[in-house]
Amino acid sequence: MESRFYSLLLLLLLLDFLTLNRADLNGAGVIKVNYKFAGADPTLSALRAHDDVRHLSISAGVDLPLGGTGRPDAVGLYYARVGIGTPAKDYYVQVDTGSDITWVNCIQCHQCPRRGYHDIELTLYNPKESLTGKLVPCNHGFCKEIGGGLSGCNANTSCLYTEVYGDGSYSMGYFVEDIVQYDRVSGDLETKSANGSVIFGCGVRQSGDLGPSDDALDGILGFGKSNSSMLSQLASSGRVKKMFAHCLDGVNGGGIFAIGHVVQPQVNTTPLVQDQPHYNVNMTAVQVGHDYLNLTVDLYTIGDQKGAIIDSGTTLAYLPEVIYDPLVEKILSWQPDLKLQTLHDQYTCFDYSGSVDDGFPPVTLHFENSLTLMVYPHEYLFPFEDLMCIGWQNSGMESQEKKNITLLGDLVLANKLVLYDLENQTIGWTEYNCSSSIELKDEITGSVHLVGAHSLSSGCSLNVRYIILLVMMALLHGLMFPPIL
Ligand SMILES: *[C@@H]1O[C@H](CO)[C@@H](O)[C@H](O)[C@H]1NC(C)=O
Ligand SMILES: *[C@@H]1O[C@H](CO)[C@@H](O)[C@H](O)[C@H]1NC(C)=O
Ligand SMILES: *[C@@H]1O[C@H](CO)[C@@H](O)[C@H](O)[C@H]1NC(C)=O
Ligand SMILES: *[C@@H]1O[C@H](CO)[C@@H](O)[C@H](O)[C@H]1NC(C)=O
Ligand SMILES: *[C@@H]1O[C@H](CO)[C@@H](O)[C@H](O)[C@H]1NC(C)=O
Ligand SMILES: *[C@@H]1O[C@H](CO)[C@@H](O)[C@H](O)[C@H]1NC(C)=O
Ligand SMILES: *[C@@H]1O[C@H](CO)[C@@H](O)[C@H](O)[C@H]1NC(C)=O
Ligand SMILES: *[C@@H]1O[C@H](CO)[C@@H](O)[C@H](O)[C@H]1NC(C)=O
Repeated sequence: MESRFYSLLLLLLLLDFLTLNRADLNGAGVIKVNYKFAGADPTLSALRAHDDVRHLSISAGVDLPLGGTGRPDAVGLYYARVGIGTPAKDYYVQVDTGSDITWVNCIQCHQCPRRGYHDIELTLYNPKESLTGKLVPCNHGFCKEIGGGLSGCNANTSCLYTEVYGDGSYSMGYFVEDIVQYDRVSGDLETKSANGSVIFGCGVRQSGDLGPSDDALDGILGFGKSNSSMLSQLASSGRVKKMFAHCLDGVNGGGIFAIGHVVQPQVNTTPLVQDQPHYNVNMTAVQVGHDYLNLTVDLYTIGDQKGAIIDSGTTLAYLPEVIYDPLVEKILSWQPDLKLQTLHDQYTCFDYSGSVDDGFPPVTLHFENSLTLMVYPHEYLFPFEDLMCIGWQNSGMESQEKKNITLLGDLVLANKLVLYDLENQTIGWTEYNCSSSIELKDEITGSVHLVGAHSLSSGCSLNVRYIILLVMMALLHGLMFPPIL
């Protein structure tokens, strides 16, 4: 879910959203979308009474349980589970280092999915149902920072957002603030539940794969580098290093995802390109087997985008045509007799029944500071409709915003421990067993703890304790938030 771009389209979408959905939203009595209609809103003031500042205690790090797979044939998606609200409900959100806003499907949602990827039961977030949920007004510092403060904004106007992703899908809604429950690392492979207040989007309208589909999730966990991302909000307590790591398990699914100071494994790093909205690094060469592609360095930096974007929210890997063409040609030269076909106007595929690791070369991407990233044939080739297809994609075929972009998604990131270090402005990786564990250092005590892998599976359903909580909630709610019509 790479670049967020703003255009006339956005404005149109937003207008559409305001006109079509205003009635539903006002009917629900929760927010005023348009400042023109701002009036007395007892809900907002009641919610704001809960406006207590909470501090996060994550000096030892945070362990975020992961699920999902990286295989495009199974619709590659990695998601984390987070608990939101009081009492907390579980939400399954796609882990996206390519975006900065976290959102979940919201109660006013248009045609929102109830079941999604891997048959996970999805949950709509309702700020009124959470004792700690509150709206983020348009004059809030957060809203101003992300540029959501419209003129005429006041404390009674909600802060709207529209997030458009590289594949054209979008989410729009309004910001809320609520308690997020997370697993604070407390010992070797041990965690304690902790919580902190975080601002995120209540998604009212979603399109594309983000709307109802077999691949739907509750939302997206923005782990980009701007101040609005979940990472930045969690790290803003100042007690945790602004560092995190993921190890997406392409074999068993799930993997490791942790915030904090990773001390083991150690990784070689490459500097982040400065003043870029994403995690961009400079690629310097591409090797196929033992041979390098015969390209000059400047060809790795064509296009408006500076450097290659590292993005866990993208499944495949996109390369500019000048790199893609010779790369695929060289890979296929290992099997000159293949009959190529194009599936779904998108994938280059062929019939191949042997072991791909025996029949095809590994591809090594080279980056500044001598960092390399090796991608094996079984990682860049995937089975699809009885054929084998090439996971590398030609970004020259993409829309204008993505033209010539180098976008490295789960296809190349899986089975590696990828370490994002915003303190030192570097990113690095090493081949790693994502079913094993890593070591995180507690910034205050100096102690080091193991954080292990998870593999969330579907079929998680309500347990009795949860149902009791829901009943209690409903009772409390009747008292605290009398229905507003
Ligand atoms: C906001 O709402 C309150 C009532 O909740 C009202 O007294 C106040 O005038 C409103 N402010 C603006 C700027 O509309
Ligand atoms: C949040 O954490 C505090 C202290 O760690 C605890 O007292 C409180 O009950 C927690 N709140 C929720 C909603 O879990
Ligand atoms: C992000 O937050 C940091 C620390 O709170 C601050 O120094 C920085 O200016 C903020 N960046 C932006 C773009 O607001
Ligand atoms: C990346 O490449 C650009 C353009 O060639 C160069 O200006 C920059 O110094 C390089 N390295 C980083 C870390 O930005
Ligand atoms: C590499 O490309 C240059 C020009 O693009 C050409 O002169 C040179 O012969 C090529 N080298 C090899 C080994 O193909
Ligand atoms: C993409 O790269 C090609 C060179 O391969 C260049 O001719 C074209 O102008 C580039 N397009 C954009 C949108 O940058
Ligand atoms: C970050 O940079 C500092 C100073 O260069 C260095 O001492 C430290 O080891 C680096 N941290 C990591 C995790 O590489
Ligand atoms: C990866 O680690 C797990 C857990 O430690 C272990 O069971 C498994 O054998 C390891 N896999 C490989 C390929 O080493």
